[in-house]
Amino acid sequence: MTRTLVTSALPYANGPIHFGHVIGAYLPADVYVRCLRMQGDEVRFVCGTDEHGVAITIGAEAAGKSYPDYVAGWHAVIQGTFDALGIEFDIFSGTSTCRHHAELSRDFFRDLDAGGYLIKEASEQLFCVPCDRFLADRYVVGTCPKCGHSPARGDECPACGEWLDPLELVEPACKVCGSEPERRSTTHWYLDLPKLRDARIGEWFQSKTWKPNVQAFVRGLLADLDKRPITRDMKWGVPVPEELAGDEEGKVLYVWFDAPIGYISFLKEWAEDIGEPDAWEAWWKGEDTELVHFIGKDNIPFHCLVFPSMLHGVGKGYVLPEAVPAMEFYNLQGRKFNTSTGWQIPLDTFFETYDADSTRFYLLSSAPETSDSDWRWEDFQACVNAGLADTIGNLATRVLRFCDKHFDGKVPPLQEAHRSELDAAILTECGEASDPAASIRRFRFREATSALLANAAIANVYIDRTAPWALRKTDLERCGSVLNTACEWLLLVARWMAPFMPTKAQSLWVMLGQEGPVEAAGWPELPSGAGWRQELGGTQLGEIEGLFAKLDDATVAAELAKLEAQAQ
Ligand code: MF3
Ligand code: ZN
Repeated sequence: MTRTLVTSALPYANGPIHFGHVIGAYLPADVYVRCLRMQGDEVRFVCGTDEHGVAITIGAEAAGKSYPDYVAGWHAVIQGTFDALGIEFDIFSGTSTCRHHAELSRDFFRDLDAGGYLIKEASEQLFCVPCDRFLADRYVVGTCPKCGHSPARGDECPACGEWLDPLELVEPACKVCGSEPERRSTTHWYLDLPKLRDARIGEWFQSKTWKPNVQAFVRGLLADLDKRPITRDMKWGVPVPEELAGDEEGKVLYVWFDAPIGYISFLKEWAEDIGEPDAWEAWWKGEDTELVHFIGKDNIPFHCLVFPSMLHGVGKGYVLPEAVPAMEFYNLQGRKFNTSTGWQIPLDTFFETYDADSTRFYLLSSAPETSDSDWRWEDFQACVNAGLADTIGNLATRVLRFCDKHFDGKVPPLQEAHRSELDAAILTECGEASDPAASIRRFRFREATSALLANAAIANVYIDRTAPWALRKTDLERCGSVLNTACEWLLLVARWMAPFMPTKAQSLWVMLGQEGPVEAAGWPELPSGAGWRQELGGTQLGEIEGLFAKLDDATVAAELAKLEAQAQ
């Protein structure tokens, strides 16, 4: 049996996450995992916070906090957002707290060294005299030598996405104190990417089918590949193994070297937590494991090239990724999400007002799968009102309230005389159902949300055609058969909804008089032929309540006004 190991990019523990992160790497993964599990697949879902590197140390220093306190605080905030959204990992750990992380990262370093894939070399680096430190990565800002954008960071240009070396920056300055750095010699280790490319990774990459955005980007990198430094002069991080460091003191692993190893070390922690310390290996080294990395597009080179090179280079039989579904960027009303300028939607309070499942559904329906896309309050409103409330919510309440009122709170019986005619009506004459799981498995989340709504719409057409309200006065038995069929369909809708909107799906499931978790019912086959029904006749319905609250125009207008007012 295939096992699927799903990872979501580790968020930096240096601030809150926003909807761009949520739709980039976490929500699609959660939907994918839930769907595969309902189809009976074995799945593990791993994430945690990325807690090392300059993004963290700059933040902690600015906040006047110790590094561990700082990352623990943001870890908890980020965890809270995932909880509010119903995103459920098997484990959500952190790179500075996971018991296995530092040692496993050092093992990677040792094994790569033993395999001949590391180069140790002295070179000149930028050093800030007032701050008394080497300016790694984001500690230095300047003008991008490739595109002229300013400020570019020491590790990468935010405008053109080029990987940069701090020494390449034009007019470099210390990010903290603004002084012009000087050059000093220091020793570092480099990952021999050209050698790893030739050893296997180049061929592996070419042999696979990638999304066009991934393909073009990584091909370019492969053609012009250089060794990459994987150590830094810093106090916070995983120290370089002592026996290799020798006289070189104060060297830690580069954050992008240790972070992806978290996908493995966290699963080790999970295995230990469940009392089967070796269980992680079947996942990470099993021939039948399919590894899927969910990421945003800025993480493509690391997940499609650098980390696979590391996994291969250590020679321990780790699996390489099967798929790397990379989302494009998600913006807010046409502009980038930006916490510091206020162009944002704070998620710590969002769910006090808005429903998490409706939010999940809207995000998925507007996902930046093939090009950048946007959160738009007007679209959120339309999605909730016309899509969820009108198509699914109204369907459920009008069918179930009718049963409640006129059939004693039960699903009315299906008369055999009506069976084949009503089967034909709902299975073929009111539209063709499609399987959202087929879209989800191809990472087409927008298409999957449309499929769910279209499937629900079939029942609306069916109700309009069969007009049970009129029938009640003329033919009560036929009216019952019609409603029975609608309830059977709603039962399917509840199961189809589950990966997207787990809480609402469960509510509908309970309203339909079902017990246990809806996800345990498994994924339904596309209904066809005689066996599609669960034979619900006589089932006592649960308490009936509205599923989705509509958003009014005033709410949307107020949100737009608030956004404009808080933005600088
Ligand atoms: N923290 C990185 C970011 O937010 C992602 C790290 S993913 C991992 O861009 F693979 F390194 F874990
Ligand atoms: Zn400085």
